[in-house]
Amino acid sequence: MSDIASASLKELDDIRVRYLGRKGRLTAVLRSLGTLPAQERPVVGKLANQIRQAIEEGLEKKWAEERVYIDTRLREESVDITLPGRKVILGKKHIITQAIDEIIQIFVGLGYNMVEGPEIETDYYNFTALNTPPDHPARTLQATFYVEAGGDSESDRRGTLPREEQVLLRTHTSPVQIRVMEKTKPPIYVIAPGRVYRPDVPDPSHSPMFHQVEGFAVDKRITFGDLKGTLEAFARRMFGSDRRVRFRPHYFPFTEPSAEVDVSCIVCGGEGCRVCSYTGWLEILGAGMIDPNVFKEVNYDPEKVTGFAFGMAPDRIAMLKYGITDIRMFFENDLRFLKQF
Ligand code: DAH
Repeated sequence: MSDIASASLKELDDIRVRYLGRKGRLTAVLRSLGTLPAQERPVVGKLANQIRQAIEEGLEKKWAEERVYIDTRLREESVDITLPGRKVILGKKHIITQAIDEIIQIFVGLGYNMVEGPEIETDYYNFTALNTPPDHPARTLQATFYVEAGGDSESDRRGTLPREEQVLLRTHTSPVQIRVMEKTKPPIYVIAPGRVYRPDVPDPSHSPMFHQVEGFAVDKRITFGDLKGTLEAFARRMFGSDRRVRFRPHYFPFTEPSAEVDVSCIVCGGEGCRVCSYTGWLEILGAGMIDPNVFKEVNYDPEKVTGFAFGMAPDRIAMLKYGITDIRMFFENDLRFLKQF
């Protein structure tokens, strides 16, 4: 019986089946009692019953212990389902990423392909190929971070590297136009988002890094009318179906004619409010017809193809849309600000 006391529950159950089960040995003994000689029956019967009792008692004790063990575990490991759950904090896209995604989606819907270009560029792609040769006055419009200019002083920027090979942080996304046209034949319909850099002192409307989305189309017989229609369709999808656009003559080296494009104020709809300085209009884009000199640079025949291009700053669009008054807020990573969008 000491065996029984030290056996595990499983072992005990095996014993129970082996001895007390339907085909158990003890059961067989009890069943065959009738075949034994009369004087042996009480002896064997009594012994068999004692054994059965011992097995049953042993099992009973073991089960009782097991129940205590299970109860304790259940109590100790129980989960209080009435406790409030722990909140899972979900991340989300940065507000600028959201604005860029929205812009790209609209143009992809119009059949444009998304392309990205390098943030570290050469002078050639950033300026020269975009009809802004060395010493062109338009270069002063975009102050530039040089990565490898060759010289080491401000006045010696030209340094030892030939001008076109100087390495810089792109000041705009327009060099993507050149990179795409160099490698592809028209028709081209491309949208190109990305970061751009200018050595401006940070203030509410300037950040040394900001974003642009460039768009351009090159095909046979593309007209200024196509540009207007495209930007109108964009403005309506981006800002609301009753938005209007307005083109004001402007100058960019790589487009001719060039325009600055306004959209009727996305806050007041054109009535006049603080955001639009009571003009009813907000400037959101630079645009124009791609200059023939740019086409020549990539070996396109300006007699055979024409195109338009435009560039916008999603940072500025997000600021206008949400009434954000300081561009630096976007890049300070203050969650209290970022969580709102
Ligand atoms: N690259 C210009 C800038 O950064 C914006 C721009 C103007 C882009 C006119 C264009 C364009 O493609 O046609 O100020």
